[in-house]
Amino acid sequence: MGKPRLILTRRLPQLVEAELRLAFTLLDNPEDQVLDSAEIIARARAHRADALLVTLTDRLDARTIDALPASVRIICTYSVGTNHLDLAAARQRGIALAYAPQAVTEATADTAMLLLLAACRRAHEFQAQLRQGRWGAWNAWENLGWDPGGQILGLVGMGRIGRAVAHRAKAFGMKIHYFQRNRLEAGLEDGATYHSSLHSLFTTSRFVSLHTPTTPETKGFIDAQTLSWLEDGAIFINTARGDQVDDDALIAALRSGKLAAAGLDVFNNEPAFDHRYLDLPNAYLLPHIGTSTEQTRIRMGRDCIDNLCAFFAEKPIPWPI
Ligand code: DGY
Repeated sequence: MGKPRLILTRRLPQLVEAELRLAFTLLDNPEDQVLDSAEIIARARAHRADALLVTLTDRLDARTIDALPASVRIICTYSVGTNHLDLAAARQRGIALAYAPQAVTEATADTAMLLLLAACRRAHEFQAQLRQGRWGAWNAWENLGWDPGGQILGLVGMGRIGRAVAHRAKAFGMKIHYFQRNRLEAGLEDGATYHSSLHSLFTTSRFVSLHTPTTPETKGFIDAQTLSWLEDGAIFINTARGDQVDDDALIAALRSGKLAAAGLDVFNNEPAFDHRYLDLPNAYLLPHIGTSTEQTRIRMGRDCIDNLCAFFAEKPIPWPI
């Protein structure tokens, strides 16, 4: 039997692609253009693909998954997020699913801290002043941000990334509180305070950071009501997914000062995000670079390779969805 035929929808780091070629007949996308559903289906059919290795730019909705050829037995995503995949539709067809949750943890947590520090020290505003030649004499009363130390950081979701953020934030003197459906055991909780409701977490926290997957419950849950639970001058961080946020509500809260600042790495409709954010001096914005380090992108690739190789060797997939 030949090597399994793998459709790779986007370019990956060279090393990862080289390692993929050793194990698979790789049907790649050297131009790296984002493929639409029709193109993914056409490629899978034309090459009688055994597997798809996709990224968050590939929208595999139920119609796309239903139209894949019967040869496709596994879909692996080069991400921890799975909101671009209709998991139920894949399961219905008996297609195995895998992802790369472990590899992204540290880089994403670093990015959350980058956003948190940049937001509370108003880095974007002051960098703009400097770049525009508006650097006046030092003074004691302008350009003031806020200390993270001593403040409560409310983490929504305390999985791998939430816990990695907690670890970092504690080193900055922050007090860690969290909400998720189930309380963690003490070892994993590591001194953090559990809240059994979002309302309780939000009415307690000065900083809030999202570390939740997008599900029907979390889609758009950052809205006018949940934001109103925060104290005036709170700081909001999002490295999870933009579709958990109602942009109108978040922008209104940043305009009114209800939120002092936000640090955002993810947006609704990336990359065609809501450009009203660009006019907000108190929003520190990054273009979804949470996992963008050389080391992380290679680790993500290797975890995907391990998933795919295990599947075709009929062994347990290390990171099944
Ligand atoms: C993920 O893994 O889901 C990140 O958002 C992108 O790498």
